[in-house]
Amino acid sequence: MKHIDIIDIFEKKELIGTKATVCGWVRTSRDSKNMAFIELNDGTSLKHLQIVIDKAKMSEISLFLKLGTSLKVVGEVVNSAVAADSVEINAEEIVVLGECPPEYPLQKKRHTLEYLRTIPHLRVRTNTFNAVLRVRSVVSAAVHEFFQDRRYVYIHTPLITASDCEGAGEMFKVTTIGYSKDYKSEEEYNADDFFGKRAALSVSGQLEGEVAAMAMGKIYTFGPSFRAEKSNTPRHVAEFWHVEPEVAFAELPDIIEIAEDLIKYIINAVLQKCPEELKFFNQHFEKGLIEKLEAVVNNDFAVMTYTEAIEHLLKADKQFQYPVEWGSDLMTEHERYISEEICKKPVFLTDYPKEIKSFYMKQNPDGKTVAATDLLVPGVGEIIGCSEREADLDKLLEAMQVRGMSIEDYEHYIALRRFGSVPHSGFGLGLERMIMYVTGVQNIRDVILYPRTVGSIY
Ligand code: 4AD
Ligand code: MG
Repeated sequence: MKHIDIIDIFEKKELIGTKATVCGWVRTSRDSKNMAFIELNDGTSLKHLQIVIDKAKMSEISLFLKLGTSLKVVGEVVNSAVAADSVEINAEEIVVLGECPPEYPLQKKRHTLEYLRTIPHLRVRTNTFNAVLRVRSVVSAAVHEFFQDRRYVYIHTPLITASDCEGAGEMFKVTTIGYSKDYKSEEEYNADDFFGKRAALSVSGQLEGEVAAMAMGKIYTFGPSFRAEKSNTPRHVAEFWHVEPEVAFAELPDIIEIAEDLIKYIINAVLQKCPEELKFFNQHFEKGLIEKLEAVVNNDFAVMTYTEAIEHLLKADKQFQYPVEWGSDLMTEHERYISEEICKKPVFLTDYPKEIKSFYMKQNPDGKTVAATDLLVPGVGEIIGCSEREADLDKLLEAMQVRGMSIEDYEHYIALRRFGSVPHSGFGLGLERMIMYVTGVQNIRDVILYPRTVGSIY
């Protein structure tokens, strides 16, 4: 159907005075004595296009005014009668593409985000999701631009895997047959299954990413990861999008620099390409959002060791729900205290105790900590998990043995340390957490088209 995007009607001043065809859904409408007005949205712009109907020239207009109806409108593009620097369309012909009954679940009022989660197929038609999805798209493109401009190779790592990268046992099993009493053991059942051994959805592309980096030098992956975490929190989903660069010859300080550059690059892209969306989030979700983002791109991130963070937490004038002691994992409340109250900006916490981190992290000379860092940001907590990888074969084997891991299952990964091992580092950025940070949206369920969480799959 030949038509013009509504964003172009707004942006291309040369269209003023011409006849244009636009399509979209009715967002609101108003009927008065001689005139009627429709706010039309086609998804290309956060702003709605006003369609002006002169009732003397058109009859049977009631069908056009119903919320949710889809229309094709032909008319002249004119300067707005009320809003300076805006345009509207004087309708000459209107065709209903699809009618919409009054029980349409989206009404004129502001619906709660909780209610909207129950209608994921329709909530995309709200301003919030219009803005979220456009920012998400711009952030995704920025991720590719950042790495492509720096000659990283985009690698597609498998989603079905036989290894557990994070070792947390939070994997969704992939199977084509159900377990039955006929099997004498789990091994026998797995042997009978599609792959002849236990398989699961990947929690991270890192292990295969390392394989690629040991040939291509600088790589990144960007795809879904899956975690069967039973934690029902505002920042966990079972299926999330994961950006994972892996860089040969990079040590921890090098990868920290890359991570900081990436975050700033993404935020700059959003500041430049999504001014309307940011204004919207600034108004409805986080006051001061734009200033916050500008400060992030114009200042260095903080760097602090885990041990220093524990000291701050122990002397904090604040009651935490979870206890703090050296050696225990930080909870969201601790992470947020450090980034929000102590640093007041993004902070790389470094050198965590090795017991609470993954097997593949480089062990520090102190024998107690690993060369790992999490990037913590105000309002969200951890958005990046990062580390230098253990490049020493014996130390890697020891870390795996301590964790009771099967050496056999990680044969290829271990072999990288045997054949021309080099220092290398990488990180994982959770796309949804990044979107939460740049939009101020507080629940991860509201920054993805279909959130998958424990007990909920729409
Ligand atoms: O810290 P994580 O577990 O690190 C890894 O998976 C490494 N293998 C990454 C690497 O070094 N290549 O996860 C990385 C990031 C987290 O910081 C978080 O942003 C996101 O992935 N993430 C989740 N996001 C939403 N829901 C979940 N359940 C998430 N789990 C991790
Ligand atoms: Mg982590």
